[in-house]
Amino acid sequence: MTEQYLITLLPGDGIGPEITKVTVEVLKAIAPKFDLELSFQEGLIGGAAIDATGNPLPEETLTMCRQSDAVLLAAIGGYQWDSLPRQQRPETGLLGLREGLGLFANLRPATIFPQLIDASTLKPEVIQGVDLMVVRELTGGIYFGQPKGIFTSETNEKRGVNTMAYRESEVDRIAKVAFEIAQKRTKKLCSVDKANVLDVSQLWRDRVTAMAANYPDVELSHLYVDNAAMQLIRNPRQFDTIVTGNLFGDILSDEAAMLTGSIGMLPSASLGATGPGVFEPVHGSAPDIAGQDLANPLAMVLSAAMLLRYGLNQDLAATAIEKAVWQVLEAGIRTGDIMSPGMVQVGCQGMGEALLEAL
Ligand code: IPM
Ligand code: MG
Repeated sequence: MTEQYLITLLPGDGIGPEITKVTVEVLKAIAPKFDLELSFQEGLIGGAAIDATGNPLPEETLTMCRQSDAVLLAAIGGYQWDSLPRQQRPETGLLGLREGLGLFANLRPATIFPQLIDASTLKPEVIQGVDLMVVRELTGGIYFGQPKGIFTSETNEKRGVNTMAYRESEVDRIAKVAFEIAQKRTKKLCSVDKANVLDVSQLWRDRVTAMAANYPDVELSHLYVDNAAMQLIRNPRQFDTIVTGNLFGDILSDEAAMLTGSIGMLPSASLGATGPGVFEPVHGSAPDIAGQDLANPLAMVLSAAMLLRYGLNQDLAATAIEKAVWQVLEAGIRTGDIMSPGMVQVGCQGMGEALLEAL
């Protein structure tokens, strides 16, 4: 029986549109093989939305997303919007999307492709076999806590304020997601906080520790974030699943990405309790290489695989995409960011063609 799904595409800014094009071609090629009927609608977000409507997240976009089965987002942002007031910046649109869809759980896997081991700046013996999952809380913490803003005191000095806050229920629900993911992986969970200094982290640690009683098969450990940042470089193989708050997760997931050689390879999934998830590459909009057919579309293609797996429950189709990526890398085909001597360099479009061939 054919299954029908509606996917909202949010190409956004910079390299967004070109990597979206390749990814949609891949999805269209895979769909009939697994009896899927995918239809696509396109919405505005980020700088593109600011230019068209003055708003980085038009209400219409949010409505479209809510009505679809899953959202595939490319990237947002660019220099030309960086000096706008915060409410009109591309990043505010992305945060609004996360908040509007209630996407509290952000899954960022960092897996080494053995073919790319030489593309990492780290020694092969350190990164060989790395396979970890960062579970980042995405709709709370210092990104959303109140009060926030730039305030002027009586002495006329400005003071910038953000608030790092977590409620028990917010910690509990992300901890639950992380424990369940750890259960499906190697049953090792490391919670990262700054409980030696921050009260919000103490509460975080207490709740995660309490939750562990429900998951006796999962081995829970805790690390302070500074130590975690160091351990990720020193011995990344000690990690399997990492759970952490919004800000620490933002930073550690970029660090974890670089273990794998290029941030151009890493997908992510953002999920809520109900409703459509948002699937997007971890990397940004790379305005410096936009429109030049230089971008690596693989992170977005792998995000489409996550969309099939976590968003539509189509595990086989997801695996087929991942296999195609594997095959293309095996064949020595590389974009500039993952290029190494003796390989064949292609552009964004060329990578797309290679994937279609592999499929
Ligand atoms: C990410 C990005 C975003 C974040 C920015 C673009 C708002 O860095 O998804 O990691 O900080 O969450
Ligand atoms: Mg980030």
